[in-house]
Amino acid sequence: MASIQAPKGTYDVLPPEAERRSILESHVHRIFGGAGYRRIETPAFEATELFARGVGSATDIVQKEMYSFDDGGGRSMTLRPEGTAPICRAYIEHGMHKLPLPVKFWYLGSFFRAEQPQKGRYRQFWQVGAEVIGAGGPETDAEIILLLAELLDAMGVKGTRLRLASLGNPETRIEYRDELTAYLRAHASELSVEVRARIDLNPMRAFDASDRGTQAVMANAPKLLDRLAPDDAEHFDQVKTLLDAAGIRYELDPTLVRGLDYYTRTLFEFTSDALGAQSGVGGGGRYDRLIEQLGGQPTPGIGFAAGIERILLAGAEQPIAPDPVDLFVIVGDRENRRAGVAGFELAREARQAGLAAQLELGARSMKGALKHADRINARYVAIVNDEQSATLKDMDTGEQQDLEAIRVIATILRGSRLA
Ligand code: HAM
Repeated sequence: MASIQAPKGTYDVLPPEAERRSILESHVHRIFGGAGYRRIETPAFEATELFARGVGSATDIVQKEMYSFDDGGGRSMTLRPEGTAPICRAYIEHGMHKLPLPVKFWYLGSFFRAEQPQKGRYRQFWQVGAEVIGAGGPETDAEIILLLAELLDAMGVKGTRLRLASLGNPETRIEYRDELTAYLRAHASELSVEVRARIDLNPMRAFDASDRGTQAVMANAPKLLDRLAPDDAEHFDQVKTLLDAAGIRYELDPTLVRGLDYYTRTLFEFTSDALGAQSGVGGGGRYDRLIEQLGGQPTPGIGFAAGIERILLAGAEQPIAPDPVDLFVIVGDRENRRAGVAGFELAREARQAGLAAQLELGARSMKGALKHADRINARYVAIVNDEQSATLKDMDTGEQQDLEAIRVIATILRGSRLA
């Protein structure tokens, strides 16, 4: 029969990879936990309307990339393509505005986008992210960027660059959008067919175009950074000052576009040269209107998300120490059911006593089982001969002794204390 494979754009996280993820998670705990951020997890699917309203119905994510389905009761649900809108939904739903503000979260989980898979781009992928809700000052923006930079650094992500911009406020953006749309119309004949078709829907995306004609037009296009309202410009100046003080290098990129509509003011993205075409490791920005748009009180917010696969692809190899094995238990005569119980109990009691103990589960011959114990670097092997007696072998020295089965654990504990 033909075997069944994982769906296109998904992959299995096998143990060595899972261990690298655990290392990443421990850095996240240390860096974000240390700064007072607490973990939050939201469901894998949400009402489709949350993303239509939160992420924006004109975005590629909502128009082309969502896995939406009927929940059986006529309601449209969507596998979450991102985490910010769900966390704002949870903030409102749980009345978190009553907590001392700001609330600071981090999260780590899988997300889903129906994209064309390639290296670093998957249909189910993992993100680590953080969100600060209820703080509007520039020091929050700088802190979020700083903490992400620390995480990338801890993971040894190579060749990072930080692109920084400000989108100002939505009103300025509308005026700017009109100006840009008029500019694009005036140059319509030089633009790619795709960009031309989207002039009205999403003119900002023209900055992202890869064709030469559009790029040449965009080089001279009006830039939003030059049109910011005075308070937005001042906020942005202070973010830059704080990043300078922290020694974080950035490149101002007035053409920075991210595929989500909720952003206001600060916008940023880390890229890495170590990645191919999918060079964005992590990014985010401020979303001061999002909570209100989702039905909450006007509340500022800022956050980021970074792709875990991309961090690991661009990160340094981490030395992974194999799990220690204190004791490997082999039942000498598998036909002897009482000996089988004694071996099972020995492994269980050894674990209760705090030892890392494994039972031979592979039905190997005695020779094969000893070889396996050697392969997994077991410190001791106990061969359970019958209900009461065992042979304990010190795998470092090769010494062995016969003893009562109930003495095995105490002997190991004494031995390892002496060692
Ligand atoms: P995003 O830029 O759409 O932002 O995604 C963040 C990161 O997730 C990307 O930089 C990339 O590393 C990773 N990523 C995105 N799509 C894929 C994919 N198909 N395969 C692998 N990795 C992927 C957000 O999601 C926002 N929620 C970030 C944010 C939080 N803004 C404010 N707060």
